[in-house]
Amino acid sequence: MEQYILVTGGAGYIGSHTCKFLHERGYTPVVLDNLVYGHRSAVKWGPFIEGDIHDQGVLGRIFSEYSPAAVIHFAAFAYVGESMLAPGRYYRNNVAGTLSLLESMRQNGCPHLVFSSSCATYGLPETLPLVESHPRKPISPYGRSKLMVEEILQDYDSAHGLKSVSLRYFNAAGADLAGELGEDHAPETHLIPLAVAAALGTRPELQIFGTDYPTADGTAVRDFVHVTDLAAAHVQALEFLARQETSQAINLGTGRGYSVREIVREVGRVSGREVPVVRKERRAGDPPVLVADAAKAGRLLGWRPTRSDLPTIISSAWKWHAGRRPG
Ligand SMILES: NC(=O)c1ccc[n+]([C@@H]2O[C@H](COP(=O)([O-])OP(=O)(O)OC[C@H]3O[C@@H](n4cnc5c(N)ncnc54)[C@H](O)[C@@H]3O)[C@@H](O)[C@H]2O)c1
Repeated sequence: MEQYILVTGGAGYIGSHTCKFLHERGYTPVVLDNLVYGHRSAVKWGPFIEGDIHDQGVLGRIFSEYSPAAVIHFAAFAYVGESMLAPGRYYRNNVAGTLSLLESMRQNGCPHLVFSSSCATYGLPETLPLVESHPRKPISPYGRSKLMVEEILQDYDSAHGLKSVSLRYFNAAGADLAGELGEDHAPETHLIPLAVAAALGTRPELQIFGTDYPTADGTAVRDFVHVTDLAAAHVQALEFLARQETSQAINLGTGRGYSVREIVREVGRVSGREVPVVRKERRAGDPPVLVADAAKAGRLLGWRPTRSDLPTIISSAWKWHAGRRPG
């Protein structure tokens, strides 16, 4: 029998890669996306419903038509800077939108949720690598919206028995290794696509925010995870919930950080082009280093990132972006 999984935000970057992975593992993803940021062309592996997670009518129809065994919930706004300027937009979409989804799950007896959380729930690191028990003091409305959802999920477990895995991603990166999907945010704020665009000449330069951090080369260090490794973790989280029935919050990172300059060097090596850069001041709230302790994901989910080495991340991103360049 066909096993349906409702994927909110499945037309977006991480959601579309996860739908491909679900399909490869024998599940049928049912995508609900309002296409505010997603792409219709990225939905290829199951039914697509254009609609909003706030819409109880559309959610009810999806639950009665497909009876999904679980929900993977990507739909959210994810621009940290914008969230500082327009917090209401973030709390409404990320928190109130999730409440709408949870109510529909509860009413329709859908028992399991995998939630896109973020390392932004930790705020500034007090100790590194970041373990799941690290204090959670987010410094943006975006990070707070993710923390609020994690807390709401605990309450839904206590009151209604709804089990969830909150996956705290570090930096999602790279593209589908077969070249079918990739990262296509507008506006783009992520380092690797911006560095690739500077190498391609579709942007004049890459801005490096902060070159005087207390790191080996003075630039900020982040933990990049290949998007297909993230996709695999979602399927493992679904299978964990089916097996264990306990709610968890789990980091998804590699435990290895790369600096902005290391990324720039690798984009230059893979593309054979120079990446023009300009130095800028540090941005407020950007910590020098963010690196995950990823042991829990290995222990509970059996997750091992196998595509998150820098050459694989950068070459897959380069292939995707260079292949889409007009002309
Ligand atoms: N990209 C990262 O590095 C990263 C890191 C940590 C957490 N996350 C989280 O992962 C999730 C996916 O991130 P992404 O980079 O794929 O983002 P994305 O913008 O590409 O995907 C989000 C999708 O959700 C859809 N959406 C937004 N609000 C909706 C609504 N109300 N109803 C229906 N659809 C809606 C958008 O149209 C989009 O297709 C987000 O929740 C984000 O906060 C991402």
